[in-house]
Order: sequence, then structure tokens, then C-alpha cells
Amino acid sequence: MYLPGKRLEELSYFRKLSVYGKKLGLEVLVFTPDDLDHVKNRVQALVYNHSSRRWMRKRTPVPAIIYDRCRYHGIENYHKISRFRARNSKLRYLSRPLANKWTMHQILSENAEIAKHLPATILYSGNKEFLKFLKKHRSVYLKPRSGTGGRGIVRLQNTTGSTFLMQGRDQGRRIIPTQKINAQQISTRLSTWRLIGRYIVQQGIPLTLKDGRVHDFRMLVQKDGSGEWQITGCAGRVGPAHSVTSNLHGGGSAVPMDTLLRNRFPEKPKVDAIKEKAYTLGMDTARFVEEKFGSQCEIGIDLAIDPKGKVWLLEVNPKPSREVFYRIGERRTYRNAIVRPLEYALWLLKNEVGHTAGFL
Ligand SMILES: Nc1ncnc2c1ncn2[C@@H]1O[C@H](COP(=O)(O)OP(=O)(O)O)[C@@H](O)[C@H]1O
Ligand SMILES: [Mg+2]
Repeated sequence: MYLPGKRLEELSYFRKLSVYGKKLGLEVLVFTPDDLDHVKNRVQALVYNHSSRRWMRKRTPVPAIIYDRCRYHGIENYHKISRFRARNSKLRYLSRPLANKWTMHQILSENAEIAKHLPATILYSGNKEFLKFLKKHRSVYLKPRSGTGGRGIVRLQNTTGSTFLMQGRDQGRRIIPTQKINAQQISTRLSTWRLIGRYIVQQGIPLTLKDGRVHDFRMLVQKDGSGEWQITGCAGRVGPAHSVTSNLHGGGSAVPMDTLLRNRFPEKPKVDAIKEKAYTLGMDTARFVEEKFGSQCEIGIDLAIDPKGKVWLLEVNPKPSREVFYRIGERRTYRNAIVRPLEYALWLLKNEVGHTAGFL
């Protein structure tokens, strides 16, 4: 999707894909739904010129495989990409679209192994049910069903039994000053947020570190060059002070998984057991999501590990970034994270697409 001024959000990632792609014998063409000529079925794509190190325009047939990196930034773009997919349904997409947080929660709950790791969650449908939920859990998160990047998220913590500490971020991701309110005031305070049917209410997992900041983990699960799922990596994220979210775009910092786990759990066997559980959950989730939504090439999973070492699944992201591995200096993981979608695409070309669709 073009940002204002025809800029592209992830151009530096696309450059890396082009560089690694070249080594594998793949040409990477970057285009948006706006660049498609429906009549001639061609795209006006950007191609990275390796000798001049610049992007050039090239008119070319629609490529055999599409890696959809469209971030919506609004309903208009969402419609644009939906239309593109509908009109070009025969193209081979590396990943099929997933669902909003509420639908995703319901679908993941169908799998008994995964369901054990899901925080209690309901769709906000009115004050009465919400207050009942608040009574059951010491800490509760309100999250937009279709939000991303830690926008419009509120945490309510029951402090005394009758009052709550309300903290969070507004739709523009700005930190909302902490407020003490009682249960009745909550829905009035959030009346402009249009919660009904648009927000999920979720059991809060205690994730506060000794310094008061919250944390969680981002795991990247990808298909490799043999079409098999692999855990590419997992990294910790620590939110900035006064934040109830840890997203990097909201000012969070990246920390190696082991560093965080060893700080919180001094016994090595415990750390190993937690990692094992997290990895199994990552694999189970990737396989199940694929079974339910159709073929996928990668997912990013937000994981929480509570003070007892229990692993919780907070969110499944269909278009994960890989920045977190660069930030913690895991160069190999970062490289794998970029190369794997290309190797998987190559594997598809050799095995599937070429045979079934006659592209080759
Ligand atoms: N149930 C929860 N318990 C504790 N922290 C949570 C919970 N849900 C979300 N968070 C925090 O908020 C962040 C953003 O929530 P997430 O569900 O991943 O939405 P987004 O799509 O905005 O990233 C998480 O990375 C985590 O730091
Ligand atoms: Mg998230």
C-alpha cells in the first residue's frame, strides 16, 4: 500500500528480499493494488537494481507468487486489497488472510491443545457482562477486535475491590494518563470508544517486571525451503515505562528470550521446559491456523509467560515484521527470517505452482 507521497512502508525489507532473492535466482517485484492494469493483466512494479542500488520501474506480467505485505492503515486500503484478492483469486498467494482477534479466538478455542493457552476472552456486548468478567479477573485488557500495533488498548486493574486502575493507549497509540475509577464509571469514560461488538475483553496476564515495565515475547514461525514449518526465532519485548503494551512501534525494546527468562526463572531446567512448551505451542498454532484458514507461509505469535511459567497465547499476526531479531543482534535468525519466505516460494515454484497452474 502506498503511504502519502507514494512511499512504501517496508522498502528496506523489500530491498533485502531482492538481494537475497537474487542469490537464490528469484526476481522480486514490488507492487501495490494501484499498480495493476486489469485489462492487460500487467503490473507497474518496482525492481531493485543491484548495480546502481536504486529502485527502477518495470512493466511486467503479474508474478507467479504473491507475498502480500499490505498493511491496511484504514478501511479504504482494506477494501482495496480485498478487491485485488477477489479479482485475482487465481494467483498463488504465500498466505491466505486470517481473521480478526475475536473470530481468531473462537477458532483457536476449537483446538484442545491450543485452548489451554488462551486467556479467557469475551466479545464486549454491554456493561452487565463486562462487569461480571471484571469481578472474575484481577486484571482485564480491552482490545479492539481489528486493532494492531498496540492501538486503543486499555488495562483495568482491580486494586481495592471497588476501584480500578485504568491505563492504556488511545487509537493514536498515545499513552492515556493513569486514572482511578470505579466499575460504573468505566463504560461512561470509554463511551466514545464504541466498545460494543468492536472490542474484546481479555483476562490480563501478569507480566510486570521488577522495574514496573510490562513484557512479552514475539515468536516467528515460518515455512522453510522444504515446505516445512520451523520456529525461526523468539525474542522478548519490554514496554516503555507507564505502558501496558510491549509493541516495538509503541516504544518497546527488544531483549533476547533467554535473558528475560533467566532473570525471572533462575533454574535452567525450568527455563528449558518453558521454551519447549512455547515452541510446541508455536508449531501447533501454525499447523492449526493453516488447517483452518488455508495455506500460510509465516505467522508471528505474541506469547506471554506468567510468573509460574505458564505460556499464554495473546495474538496471531498474519504479516509479522522481523525487526525484533535485528534489534537483539541475532543476525542468523534475522537472516533466516528474511530468506525463508523466498526459499518457501522457490519450493512452491518447483513443487506446486509449476505443476498445477502451468506457470513454468
Ligand atoms: N491479555 C493480556 N495480558 C497481558 N498483556 C496483554 C494482554 N493482551 C495484550 N497485552 C499486551 O498488549 C500488547 C498488544 O496486544 P495484542 O493483542 O498483541 O494487540 P496488537 O494487535 O495491538 O499488537 C501485547 O503485546 C502485550 O504486551
Ligand atoms: Mg500484538
